[in-house]
Amino acid sequence: MSVRRLAEDSVQPASFAFSKDNAVWAKATIKKYPKGREQSAVIPLLMRAQEQDGWVTKAAIESIADMLGMAYIRVLEVATFYTQFQLQPVGTRAHIQVCGTTPCMLRGAEDLISVCKSKIHAQPHHLNADGTLSWEEVECLGACVNAPMVAIFKDTFEDLTPRQLEYVIERFEAGRASEVKPGPQIDRVFSAPIGGLTTLTTPDPKPKVARTKSAAAEEVAAVAPTDSAKPSLDDPNRPAGIEKPSQPDDLKMISGVGPKIEGILNELGIYTFAQVAGWKQAERDWVDGYLNFKGRIDRDDWVKQADALAKGGEAEYIKVFGKKPR
Ligand code: FES
Repeated sequence: MSVRRLAEDSVQPASFAFSKDNAVWAKATIKKYPKGREQSAVIPLLMRAQEQDGWVTKAAIESIADMLGMAYIRVLEVATFYTQFQLQPVGTRAHIQVCGTTPCMLRGAEDLISVCKSKIHAQPHHLNADGTLSWEEVECLGACVNAPMVAIFKDTFEDLTPRQLEYVIERFEAGRASEVKPGPQIDRVFSAPIGGLTTLTTPDPKPKVARTKSAAAEEVAAVAPTDSAKPSLDDPNRPAGIEKPSQPDDLKMISGVGPKIEGILNELGIYTFAQVAGWKQAERDWVDGYLNFKGRIDRDDWVKQADALAKGGEAEYIKVFGKKPR
């Protein structure tokens, strides 16, 4: 549960002032509201103060209250209610907000919190040694269908495993946040069902409204790289394919492989855990070129997962990973 208090006096600055540009912006923002309703600008002003200084200080709350003709307590109420407002200094590169509400908790939020504890700090609201990272648990952030999830500043990262969260944190810590795509971290489009459509699966024989070419193209782009971006099938790094065996392995047992990706792998002649377990880096990179989300093979450690499944099926997987495969 979120506990919302102002930071200790020892870290509070003595005063607050918007920068010149932000002061102009604040004045224009307040003017958007009718006379006597200026307090409606309280949230945008608090957010701008946070963007300027990294967190919302007591001095900022009081300064904004003065600008809007509000009692300090009213602005304090707003700032302490919304977890979007940080009331103490946070990591300069990332502040990880882990949703701990029921759907996320049932889908593994506790494991995500353990990652934050080991990679950032044992306690929430504490900076890591370099001052670059911090974390906290928050209430539902409205992405329950893609649970478990975290928010980092204005983006959400969903359908997370502990390993994926480690990867996300490492990218932010390295100043390479642009390498991580916000949204679902598995093979699904936004909040579409995992495993493909479950309704409206029969094409309408007489569609009333034709889909535009661009809408169709966008959907294709979301699920697969373009042909020109794919590595050549004759590339020497292409992992050896095999004919479809009479009993292919269920590659979907590998976390990170859904029905769509399994289909892609099968088309490339990949049908068994043993094949995946044997991939070297160059081969993983080659296969990566056929997936819509680069880096997922290493991030989810398909090779280690496949190795366990090839050696001893579910029992070995549980022994290695401490949980059942998907
Ligand atoms: S419960 Fe986690 S986003 Fe709603």
